[in-house]
Amino acid sequence: MKKRNIYLVGFMGAGKSTIAKELSKQLGYELLSTDALIVDREGKEITDIFKDEGEIYFRKVEKEVVNSVSQKTKVIIDCGGGIVLDPENISNLKKRGIVIYLSATPESIFSRVKDHTHRPLLNVDDPMRVIIDLLGKRQPFYEQANYIINTDNRSIQDVCLEIINILKSNE
Ligand code: S3P
Repeated sequence: MKKRNIYLVGFMGAGKSTIAKELSKQLGYELLSTDALIVDREGKEITDIFKDEGEIYFRKVEKEVVNSVSQKTKVIIDCGGGIVLDPENISNLKKRGIVIYLSATPESIFSRVKDHTHRPLLNVDDPMRVIIDLLGKRQPFYEQANYIINTDNRSIQDVCLEIINILKSNE
């Protein structure tokens, strides 16, 4: 397989981190997460960065992290759900690898995120309303990915196999 990076994009709760972890095991690629890199860099959790510095600051750090990870080769990157909002981020990712959008319905997303509190944008009274609204707005940005894979009611293995087949077809 070519030494290209694999970038998983999609809404919070779409399964990016789970799929990225499994794929990195199967392919032997290094696994990186933009959120984890931001937390390391800032020395605080994402919720605290949003609370103390605000979302604009978070997006600035996120963009710097995208720039630095896209210098690497043969890595699988679990991208934060808002990365696609900046057009320069998408073009940076596409230059160095394959961008895969893991899609899911608002219902699947809600069932996967409802018991977690580490996502500031969803720590609200009515997370389902925010999911429907934000997903609708972001859909066109996510769809700029090279490939779209639906994850509703599908096993991790099944989604990984589809990604591996995509990689093979790009050899
Ligand atoms: C965000 C998604 C989160 C994280 C931050 C903002 C978003 O990452 O980057 O809370 O704007 O969609 P995950 O998609 O990994 O949850």
